[in-house]
Amino acid sequence: MFNRIQETNSKTLAYAKELILNNQVVAFPTETVYGLGANALEDKAVENIFTLKGRPQDNPLIVHLHKEYDIEKLTEPPMPHLRQLIDKLAPGPITFILKSKKIVSNLVTANLDTVAIRIPNHPMAQAFLKEVDLPIAAPSANISTHTSPVTAQHVQDDFGDKLPLILDGGRSFYGLESTVCDITGEKPIILRQGFITADEIASIVGDCLQLSDTNKQEELKRLSPGTRYKHYAPNCKTTLFESNQISDLEKYAHDLQENGISFAILAESSAITGFQNYKVYNLGNTAKEMASNLYMYLREAEKEVENLLVLLPIGQSEILQTVQNRLKKACGKL
Ligand code: TXA
Ligand code: MG
Repeated sequence: MFNRIQETNSKTLAYAKELILNNQVVAFPTETVYGLGANALEDKAVENIFTLKGRPQDNPLIVHLHKEYDIEKLTEPPMPHLRQLIDKLAPGPITFILKSKKIVSNLVTANLDTVAIRIPNHPMAQAFLKEVDLPIAAPSANISTHTSPVTAQHVQDDFGDKLPLILDGGRSFYGLESTVCDITGEKPIILRQGFITADEIASIVGDCLQLSDTNKQEELKRLSPGTRYKHYAPNCKTTLFESNQISDLEKYAHDLQENGISFAILAESSAITGFQNYKVYNLGNTAKEMASNLYMYLREAEKEVENLLVLLPIGQSEILQTVQNRLKKACGKL
């Protein structure tokens, strides 16, 4: 397969710009996961993203901006919390839902009256956005429903030579998609959990709701359709076990071994010691470590084994809940 992965430098950035101005799609690194970017102002360019990914048209995209880009070009007031949140959290792993001025293509917003805005912190993402100086619509750079990519190679594994250019920026630091936070109302509401937590947002603007605190769950499912679809699933069979189902997991592993079916167990460090006779993926100790290893191992597992047995890590912190949530989705449980 022809290698589309290129080091990010002035030459490849100039090529990226040329592609973007021709309504083509370019994959680029961010600190969360890799993105599949195209000019958010052009229907044709945005359409290419949906076609490549096989993404349902009613699932809106995030618009990525460089640090100096004027957000107010794309959004309508009032934006009660925007300035404070931008000052403290951007650039970074957070996406803000704001009222749209309808400047970006309707395909980006799936005809909603809001638009999702993110200023990524990865220096190469900033370099790319600055080079094109356009709002760039970008979903995670995976085929729809597949595990999100945290390396350039993951992107190439999904798209082969269908993409003209994959800018390489090393392994994504966080390894988990941005927090999506709706700030169109009086109180911010988290639509998708990530590294920036509701507590952190509340410490800046006084309050922040989780979707589960609101009576808007059904309405917001409609407004953030992404939450409705199958997500993050690796291309191997996955089975999820809760922490009180370890004996079921052991029996399952034993049966697979008896039948000569290849498998591995994904679990946090403290739980992995019991499974040393089997192939294991050690998610790590802390919630942050687990978040950053999650997609890496889901992608590794699909290359190495037929079955992945996932033992859900234990814990209550918001980031750990996020890891649990992504794992459940990856196993088709949510
Ligand atoms: O970290 C990230 O956010 C990565 C990198 C590439 O920036 N992008 C990403 O994009 O995860 P994607 O398309 O995989 O997820 C975008 C999420 C979806 O759940 C979508 O429904 C939601 O953002 N979204 C986009 N626009 C929205 C809007 N106007 N209102 C509510 N939700 C929106
Ligand atoms: Mg995605």
